[in-house]
Formats: sequence, structure tokens, C-alpha cells
Amino acid sequence: MSLQSSKGPGISRPSPARAFDFLLCGAGHGAADRVAVVSPEARDLAWENGRFLAEAVRHMAGRGVRQFLDIGSGLPLAGSVSEVARAVRPDARVVYVDDDPLVHAQARALIPTDERTAFVEVGVRRPKAILDHPETIRVLDPGEPTGVLLLSVMHFVHGEDDPYGLVARVMDAMPPGSCLGLAHVTSDDLDPGVRRRIDEVYNGTAAPLVLRTTAEIMRFFDGLRVLVPGLVDVGAWDADGAAEFKPGPMRLLGAVAVKP
Ligand SMILES: C[S@@+](CC[C@H](N)C(=O)[O-])C[C@H]1O[C@@H](n2cnc3c(N)ncnc32)[C@H](O)[C@@H]1O
Repeated sequence: MSLQSSKGPGISRPSPARAFDFLLCGAGHGAADRVAVVSPEARDLAWENGRFLAEAVRHMAGRGVRQFLDIGSGLPLAGSVSEVARAVRPDARVVYVDDDPLVHAQARALIPTDERTAFVEVGVRRPKAILDHPETIRVLDPGEPTGVLLLSVMHFVHGEDDPYGLVARVMDAMPPGSCLGLAHVTSDDLDPGVRRRIDEVYNGTAAPLVLRTTAEIMRFFDGLRVLVPGLVDVGAWDADGAAEFKPGPMRLLGAVAVKP
């Protein structure tokens, strides 16, 4: 069984965003997305990713970050960047970026655009278009530290698209004190059965997964200061040190770093 293009026009086609939404028990999935559940543990992984998002955003906001650029945002569910950031900083500004038009349609219905919130329909492979987008410029102050989030999206970007250069171009445009939070599926310790299911589900789609080693994921943070507890399983990420955590057969690693 294989997924169709993630960017297809119809709701009958599965997309990573709606599959993820399904894993999070959200309302935005189509029936076809259910095939994207590569293992029963993928549901745990999705929850852990959501927990990491909340921890990372809270930590950035606690460091004084008041604006966020969430690239590959998916559907803003309960625990969205706006919700978490504004619990710490009620004036927090958020730009959500995703290249899936269905995500945009649903996101706009869930969270209204206002003076502190924008949605930008541009792909992560076009950092200049994201940064120069009129909505990004309207909501984010380029002189202020920004919390950049790239959670569970860079594993859809293949080597030929220069994934490291894309992240570097976004962070190069940010002032010192800006943060990067990134989560990525790793090939390390991957259960062979899960690997087979990943290949079955994602290969031949417009968004096959690229599994990277811990060292390869760490490269996304080049030039930045990675904060404690470093690059760890997202379920273990805690700003006070790695929490106790037993990884499943498919691991999602995450870290938060600061631009010096
Ligand atoms: C697995 S979801 C993760 C959503 C969210 N970041 C989170 O961590 O909960 C991946 C998201 O990345 C988006 N995505 C995939 N490829 C993308 C690309 N090239 N540019 C922008 N967004 C992309 C998908 O549409 C989807 O919403």
C-alpha cells in the first residue's frame, strides 16, 4: 500500500499533515491518511513531538522570544505554537508556514488571521519566499529574536534540495538570540520491520521520508549553540536535562539551539 502525493488536490489523498493529525486524534484527517500509520508506536511519537513542541516553545518564550516562525506547521491543533507561546507571552506573534493548501484551508478555519498571526503557503525549500512574504513581514519584526520551528518536516527534504543550506539561510536571516527547534526521524536504532513499513507507506509518494543519523541531524544546528539536554529523543527533551525515556522502534530526535 502506498500514499499518493501529499500535495494532491483532494481530501481523499493522504498528506503527512493529515496523517499526523490523525495520529494526534485531530479532526483534520481523511480516511486515506490512516495508511500512514507506519507502526502503532507512531501515535506515541506524534504525542511526543507535540510535547516537545510545547516544551521548546515555552523555553524559547521564557528566554524572551516573542515571535515564532513555524515552518511545516501542520494543522494548529490544541497545543499550537500560538497557544503555548501566548500562555507565557500574551503578545506573542506567530507565522505558520506550510505548503499544503488543505492545511491552510483548515488552519485558517481553526485560528483566525489577526495582527499577531499569519499563515504563509510556501514550501520549506524556498526560504527567501518565506522570509520576504508580505504576511511574514507584516507579523514578524526582523530585528527581534525569533523562535524558528522545523518540527518533523526536514525529513521530507532530500539531499539534492540542500536541506542544511535551507535551514542555514533561515537562521542567517535571524538576529542573535534567535532559536531553532528542530525534530527529525532518525535511522539510528530503527527496527527493521518499521523500516519496511516506512518504505511501503512513504516510498513512491511526493514526500518520501529521508531518515538521517544522529550526526546528520546534528548538522542542522551548525553555527548555533545547542542547549541542554542536546539532541535527544523528543520524549526525553527537557530544558533541565534529559528526562527518563524509553525510545520505541522508531525514534524522533529533537533539540533547541540559540544563535550566538
Ligand atoms: C508531520 S507534519 C508536522 C507538523 C508540525 N510541524 C508538528 O510538528 O506537529 C509535517 C508538515 O510538514 C508539511 N510539509 C511537508 N513538506 C513540506 C515542504 N516542502 N514545505 C513546507 N511544508 C511541508 C506537511 O504539509 C505537514 O503539515
